[in-house]
Amino acid sequence: MNDPLIDAARKVRENAHAPYSGFKVGAALTSVEGNIHAGCNVENVAFPEGTCAEAGAIAAMIAAGDRRIAAIAVIAGSEDPVPPCGGCRQKLAEFADGDVPVTLATTSGATLRTSVAELLPGAFGAAHMGTK
Ligand code: THU
Repeated sequence: MNDPLIDAARKVRENAHAPYSGFKVGAALTSVEGNIHAGCNVENVAFPEGTCAEAGAIAAMIAAGDRRIAAIAVIAGSEDPVPPCGGCRQKLAEFADGDVPVTLATTSGATLRTSVAELLPGAFGAAHMGTK
């Protein structure tokens, strides 16, 4: 298995700040513009203030000037691949088309391939507001 996106997610996961859950997560995405952006979970003693790995990767992409996700990988040290939380599914839908591949991986080598639309069917989008 030599997937550069999983490798980048695995590497950034090591930087996670997860002293409360002990559950480190890494995410790496390739932008449509052709760059890899990575993020890890950053927890806070005020628990709701923590942020997920996916949110970190998206923030890095936007801060770097890229705008759209072409593919994303998420990795955790769990037994089975961990799917993104509900909030992260909505965040992904903001920056990725429904057919964008999402690879969920474990540090022991398991992978599960899904897509943004599979993770969030019937997503709320700008078209529902009638403004676009
Ligand atoms: N977490 C992520 O970063 N991404 C996910 O897809 C699932 C959960 C983080 C949030 C929190 O820091 C820890 O995992 C336990 O929920």
